[in-house]
Amino acid sequence: MLAGKHILLIIGGGIAAFKSLDLIRRLRERGADVTPVLTRAGEEFVTPLSVTALAGKKLFRDLFDLGDEAEMGHIQLSRVADLIVVAPATADLMAKMAQGHANDLASTLLLATDTPVLIAPAMNVRMWEHAATQRNLDTLRADGITVIGPNEGDMACGEYGPGRMSEPLEIVTAIEANLSEGPLSGKRILVTSGPTHEPIDPVRYIANRSSGAQGTAIARALAALGAEVIFVTGPADVPPPDGVRVIRVQTAQQMLEAVEASLPVDAGVFAAAVADWRVEGARDRKLKKSKDGLPTLTFAENPDILKFVSQMKKGRPPLVVGFAAETNDVIENATAKRARKGCDWIVANDVSPETGIMGGSENAVTLISDAGAEGWPRMGKTQVAQKLAARIAEALG
Ligand code: CTP
Repeated sequence: MLAGKHILLIIGGGIAAFKSLDLIRRLRERGADVTPVLTRAGEEFVTPLSVTALAGKKLFRDLFDLGDEAEMGHIQLSRVADLIVVAPATADLMAKMAQGHANDLASTLLLATDTPVLIAPAMNVRMWEHAATQRNLDTLRADGITVIGPNEGDMACGEYGPGRMSEPLEIVTAIEANLSEGPLSGKRILVTSGPTHEPIDPVRYIANRSSGAQGTAIARALAALGAEVIFVTGPADVPPPDGVRVIRVQTAQQMLEAVEASLPVDAGVFAAAVADWRVEGARDRKLKKSKDGLPTLTFAENPDILKFVSQMKKGRPPLVVGFAAETNDVIENATAKRARKGCDWIVANDVSPETGIMGGSENAVTLISDAGAEGWPRMGKTQVAQKLAARIAEALG
């Protein structure tokens, strides 16, 4: 898939730079030609020798190397690639890119280029969450730069949270999506998936039986058509697909916050089975049995994420797709739901127990839009996802 593609890989100065060595290997295995650029800070984390050895070619290190300028000037170096990948993209590199600095080879290449750029940020969680980095991120996205990750997890600095660089194979998938001539390349699509867990106390929660299978298949199908997918998932049974940005949440409230933070997008697909209610005043200590009787749980209504996004006055995605799980009068109920929520399409399905759809591998859906109700034959959830992704590609055309 990457055969014959030229990738200029800029390795920034972060602990995640070691993963970029594996990234070079993975890219070359797939037939890509990788020209590495190592920043001065990057050299503190990986050696020029290991980078050159893995890339199998010359490493570019310094802006004012007369030899390099004679062989291939930095302007030309920035233009021969099909894609420039910055991994790890440190907070500093992101700031330089957002501001248009050109005071070393990496930043000069990034400013001089007219080639698409993909960055894989990696930094301490506080640095990532800092308003300045988030501002720079918005600027870079608005400049058309594709961002993969960061993932959430344990950090080398001992903290936990978003900031870990995406794994090499996730970056490879994002590169493949970026270079694919897919009908959704350049489009940013949000997918919600899985159930939500609403806490009762620190050890108990209310949930539903959603496995996340359909939402995951949709995210995978959209990414395969070249979309940049932001996948906001509750605690699902199935693992998230590769090559998408994964944001894990537990509750409906957190899902709403993650969705808001992911906007703007070209389309939103709301496949999550969001709990309609949460427990009001969830306890911060474990509830104990008591002689005084049984505990009483009071419910509060959760925010309706689909409705919120569908009815946004400013920044509403051009295409909003909701789901409706019904047990009776499927088309009638789903048509009313579409009007109530204000979304463009509703994917309705019959989840009455005799269909075996809930938790199963197949689905039989009806797509409800302005054009009316269109029944699709019963098929695998993967096929439903592919058909829906193709429809979305047509609509975003
Ligand atoms: N949804 C959401 N936020 C909620 C509830 C639902 O985003 N708090 C979205 C789901 O992701 C799905 C659609 O809304 O796309 C389903 O709507 P909902 O009214 O929850 O439907 P059901 O639970 O299927 O049906 P009902 O409430 O009518 O029983």
